[in-house]
Amino acid sequence: MTSTRPTTVSLRDVTKRYRSLAALDSVDLDLGSGITGLLGPNGAGKTTMLRVMATVLAADEGQVRLLGRDPGDPQARTEVRRRLGYQPQELGFPRGFSTMAFVNYMAVLKEWADRGRRTTEVRRVLDLVGLGDVATKRISRLSGGQRRRVALAQALLGTPELLVLDEPTTGLDPEQRASLRGVLADIAATSTMVISTHQTEDVAALCSRVVVLDAGRVHFDGTVPELVALATGKVWMAAEPDAAAHASWRTASGRYRNVGEHVPSGAELVEPSLEDAYLLLRGAVGLASARSDDTTTSAEVA
Ligand SMILES: Nc1ncnc2c1ncn2[C@@H]1O[C@H](COP(=O)(O)OP(=O)(O)O)[C@@H](O)[C@H]1O
Ligand SMILES: [Mg+2]
Repeated sequence: MTSTRPTTVSLRDVTKRYRSLAALDSVDLDLGSGITGLLGPNGAGKTTMLRVMATVLAADEGQVRLLGRDPGDPQARTEVRRRLGYQPQELGFPRGFSTMAFVNYMAVLKEWADRGRRTTEVRRVLDLVGLGDVATKRISRLSGGQRRRVALAQALLGTPELLVLDEPTTGLDPEQRASLRGVLADIAATSTMVISTHQTEDVAALCSRVVVLDAGRVHFDGTVPELVALATGKVWMAAEPDAAAHASWRTASGRYRNVGEHVPSGAELVEPSLEDAYLLLRGAVGLASARSDDTTTSAEVA
């Protein structure tokens, strides 16, 4: 299915450095329609990658193509910017703006010249993210979760073909997150969407594809079931945390869930979740980088 989809984002051997640190290190990635989830620990390079995709940063090396264009060319870059929506990880708001006034201001910058159509569009995106009731409230009086949604609303103006969302669900309560998932899934029917998140449940619920970054490199790129399958036979329940596990945690039943490569004989194996698989992958990364050699721990782990 993916092979027939047109490529909207293409990164070919892309490197981005901050001084000597390679925040992105020879990244190859092609994204088509649907939602791609970007997972990885803090500092993995998620925000840097999304900034490159949003034309905010230029790559130091390699080729970037967005919506079939080269963002290194100023005219093409403007074209791309007209067709993309970007929610930065942190968006500063001018003092004193109401929700409506801010999103309206962003709509003006987005070239919505006709006042009537602009107002309709601003109301549409505010309703979409559940902020219709606080349209006239000052942003400085909103909760953290509401501010995140103001940042999302401006990205949705005009239903862009490419949506780049940096941690859109961070700071939202469970209900807000569930309703936002529905909104994002609807939009993704017609757009290419890339979201970074620390919530593996968001990825499981929303994403057709998952990319795991670590230290600027792609450590996994595949479907959600493919990532989950990495943990098959490696998750078990026990009365106590298991010292041999990469990770163990107490569950609602009071028993412990253990994830690891070395499963004790006779262990009570359970169905893996995406979070299990992610932790296992992270465990493998941790062990691999702790070793002096460079041996890859699994065929699927790039
Ligand atoms: N403007 C910057 N100047 C210097 N280093 C940066 C800058 N932005 C990010 N970095 C570094 O690049 C790496 C990747 O950061 P980032 O892309 O923000 O990762 P993530 O979003 O996955 O947490 C980190 O080591 C971070 O400290
Ligand atoms: Mg980030």
